[in-house]
Amino acid sequence: MTADHRRAAVLCGIGTWLPPRVVTNDDLAQQLDTSDEWIRSRTGIRERRVIDPGTSTSDLAVEAGARALKSAGGGNVDLVIVATTTPDHPCPSTAPEVASRLGLTGVPAFDLNAVCAGFVYSLATAVGHIVAGIASRVLVIGADTFTTVLNPHDRTTVAIFGDGAGAVVLRAGTADEPGALGPFDLGSDGTNAELLIVPAGGSRQRGSGQPLDPADVHFRMDGQPVFRNAVTRMSESAAKVLAQAGWRIEDVDRFACHQANARILTAVARTLEVPEERVVMNVDRVGNTVAASIPLVLADAAAAGDIVPGHRVLITSFGAGLGWGSTVITWPDIDLG
Ligand code: UT7
Repeated sequence: MTADHRRAAVLCGIGTWLPPRVVTNDDLAQQLDTSDEWIRSRTGIRERRVIDPGTSTSDLAVEAGARALKSAGGGNVDLVIVATTTPDHPCPSTAPEVASRLGLTGVPAFDLNAVCAGFVYSLATAVGHIVAGIASRVLVIGADTFTTVLNPHDRTTVAIFGDGAGAVVLRAGTADEPGALGPFDLGSDGTNAELLIVPAGGSRQRGSGQPLDPADVHFRMDGQPVFRNAVTRMSESAAKVLAQAGWRIEDVDRFACHQANARILTAVARTLEVPEERVVMNVDRVGNTVAASIPLVLADAAAAGDIVPGHRVLITSFGAGLGWGSTVITWPDIDLG
């Protein structure tokens, strides 16, 4: 293989944090008309983590961010991106507070809202900053407390979402190093925005003036078309990024797909013809953690020895917007904490 000395963004640290409270399917069945059997068979989820009152997205982000920085050997970064759809406040963004609590006051910091695709969009944004020479070391955090926007009486959404955070540190390096990210495939489809939406609380339906309609303040989802779109968009996007990378499907050692539903993961893997044993999964333990999903499943699989240095990993995600994104990485030899 010829050397490729182009400037690239290289993964050099990873860290995660889950709130301690475990909510099992049986716990949900005590409050809602559902059952462990239904949730397991339709989604593969057994339990999820849920924050307690008083905890917010920034709390999870700071814990994951601190662990990622430690894994990267400490030191500063020159950009912080927080991928989230559940910021601490509508204004300001959450990233500056997260940066300050990590001892990074003064460093540029912003939120990126691309819902479940937010982490991959944020990776692409960080790569762009590094390759353009605007930054040389970036902390990318995916953090969401999506349980805070759910209707507690909606059994469909309460069953599938959980809270959590995951983070990585990217440093400037070269394209031929293990850990170099990319290429990327990103996409969106606003014509299907209504399929997953919190109707109120934004500029179209604000709290000031007219009182908010209580039916509109929670997340709504039309599950079946979302399922179909998730399978199609992630399969197409993953195939595109493989072609850009020049990888064949048999080159993929591990497939890290957004952890929305075990049936979605299986369907995407089958469409791409990735053998099931190469698909990494933690949706059974954490549910759908939105922007935290990809770093959480990567870190879990690496900690379990299921992803090892040298593995070629295909990453793909999909969510509200609609939005989707994919990338590839050859897993580096990093400290897992
Ligand atoms: O990041 C993207 C985020 N969203 C997703 O990925 C969601 C994608 N969609 C899905 O994962 C699935 O569509 C769901 C898991 C949400 C639903 O599974 P499904 O197999 O598509 O079920 P369904 O919507 O066709 O509903 C079948 C039945 C309905 O009852 P009726 O109308 O047949 O009487 C639902 O009301 O299952 C009912 N149901 C439940 N029953 C027990 C829906 N949620 C539950 C529940 N417990 N938690």
